[in-house]
Amino acid sequence: MRVDVTNALEVPTTVHWHGMHLPAEMDGGPHQMVDPDATWSPEWDIDQQAATLWYHPHLHGETESHVARGLAGMFLIQDDVEQALPLPREYGVDDVPVIVQDTGFSDGGVRDGSQRGFAGRLGDELLVNGMRGPYLEVSDEVVRLRLLNASTARSYAFTWSDGRPVELIATDGGMLEASVELDLVMLSPGERAEVLVRVTPGERLVLRSEMTAEAAGMIGSIAAMNGRTDSFDVLELRAADELDASAEVPDQLAELPPVDAGEVAATRRFTLDGFEVNGHQMEMGRIDETVTVDTTERWVVENTSQMPHSFHVHDVQFRIASIDGSPPPPHLAGWKDTIFAAPETEFELILRFEDYADPDSPYMYHCHLLWHEDQGMMGQFAVVEPGS
Ligand code: C2O
Ligand code: CU
Repeated sequence: MRVDVTNALEVPTTVHWHGMHLPAEMDGGPHQMVDPDATWSPEWDIDQQAATLWYHPHLHGETESHVARGLAGMFLIQDDVEQALPLPREYGVDDVPVIVQDTGFSDGGVRDGSQRGFAGRLGDELLVNGMRGPYLEVSDEVVRLRLLNASTARSYAFTWSDGRPVELIATDGGMLEASVELDLVMLSPGERAEVLVRVTPGERLVLRSEMTAEAAGMIGSIAAMNGRTDSFDVLELRAADELDASAEVPDQLAELPPVDAGEVAATRRFTLDGFEVNGHQMEMGRIDETVTVDTTERWVVENTSQMPHSFHVHDVQFRIASIDGSPPPPHLAGWKDTIFAAPETEFELILRFEDYADPDSPYMYHCHLLWHEDQGMMGQFAVVEPGS
C-alpha cells in the first residue's frame, strides 16, 4: 500500500506506523522528517496477521508534545483467518475504535498537559476519539471495542461499571488463541486490546478505568501524587430497546506458533534505568544493535529501577517467553509490540527478523512513556545481511 502524508502543521513532524512490519525507510521514525506543507509517500506490502495498529508522530525529543495534541490514529489490518470468524465487524457500529488520551485544556481551549509526574505529562480529562463525555448507542448484542492507549504517560486499568469480567480477544499484534476473561485490562501507553462485550436491551454500561496501586504496582503512586484515585469514566454504552442478534464467538480464535520455535541466533540484554537503555541515551548517528536478517533472537529486557517503564520494538511483533522466569499469563501470551515493564521485572522476548535488511536505515526500540523517550530512553537497531 501507499500512504500520502501531508504535513499541515507549522513545524516538521513524522508519522510512525506503530506495530507495522515494514522497511525501516518507511517506518516514520525520527529519520523520516516531513517538513511543513511537504508530502511524504511511504509504500510497503502489508504482510502480517489481522491486528489493531496505530500511527503517531515520532520526532527526536519532541514526540510527547505532538502526540499530546491529539496526533494519533488507528490502523486496522484484516486477514482471511480473522474475517472467517463470526466476530462483530461493522466499523463504527459493532466494531468500534476507542482511542484514549488524557489531556487538559487551557482557557483558550487549547489541549495542553496540566501536570507532570515522573511518568511524564498527565491530563485531568479523558478524551475518546478526541471527544469529551463520549457514549455509544448500541444496536447489537455483542460489541467489539478496539482499545488504544494513545496517552503520553498514563496507564489505564479498564473495567466494566457492573463488575463483569472483561473479555479480551486480541492484543497489540493480533488475535489471542482463545478469549480470556479478566478482572481488568491494563494498557500502558502504546498498547492495544480488543474486547467483546454483551449487552441486554435498554442496558447502560460504562467502560471505566480504575487504576489502583494493586492494579499496577508503582503506577498507583502516580494517583497518590495527584492526591486522588486515578479513575475515569471512559465510554458509556447505551443499548437500544431491541437488539440485533450476534453470532456465538468460538473458543478458538487463532493458531499461534509455539514461542520457542526454531533456534535463537543471538541473545541481547536491555537494561532500563534512569531514562537510559543499557546506560546510554539515544543518538541519531549511532546504531546500538546489529541484527542478522532471517534469524530469531532472544531479547532480555530488565527494568532495574524503581520507576515504571515500558519497552516497544519497531518492525516486528514479538512473543513474551517469560516474565521473571515464569511463563506469561494467557493475556500476555499473544502478539505484542509494547510491554509495560514494572519496576524490578525481567522479560524474555522472542523476536523474528524475517526480512528488510538495510544497514543504512535503523529501527528503534524505546520506552513508550513519551517523556522518557524524549529524554533519550531509546536505541537503534539495524537489520543486515549475514556477514555485514
Ligand atoms: Cu509508538 Cu517508536 O513508537
Ligand atoms: Cu520509561
